[in-house]
Amino acid sequence: MRHFASDSAESYAIGVVDVARWEQYSLGNKLPFQAMWYTVPPDSSSPRDCHPEVELSVVISGTASVEASDAITDVAPGSCFLLESEEAHVIHNRSTDVPLLVFTTYWMPLAGDEPAVAVAAAAGEEAAR
Ligand code: NI
Repeated sequence: MRHFASDSAESYAIGVVDVARWEQYSLGNKLPFQAMWYTVPPDSSSPRDCHPEVELSVVISGTASVEASDAITDVAPGSCFLLESEEAHVIHNRSTDVPLLVFTTYWMPLAGDEPAVAVAAAAGEEAAR
């Protein structure tokens, strides 16, 4: 068993966001995905992000206001959000006093997995999974 303590992880700044990537644990190919924690300070937002990896996130503390596909969705602590490959996103922390802490995993889309953004564009809202 290995324990990964978020409060002692090595981190660095991307804009105002503090990022602690799991590469620091040298897990090699043990996990089929990458992982990180990030913190967005009160009253601030992440830089706009867009990448080929699918991204699944768990809100640990604070509330994430996730801007993606022309909508902003508030995600509460304990809840999760999934961003599709190439789905641009900005993570806002609209609290004036509570930092937002998120745990995120990300991986390249598996072979044969159709990008849901493209499916949604073709088939309308019903395609969201
Ligand atoms: Ni991202």
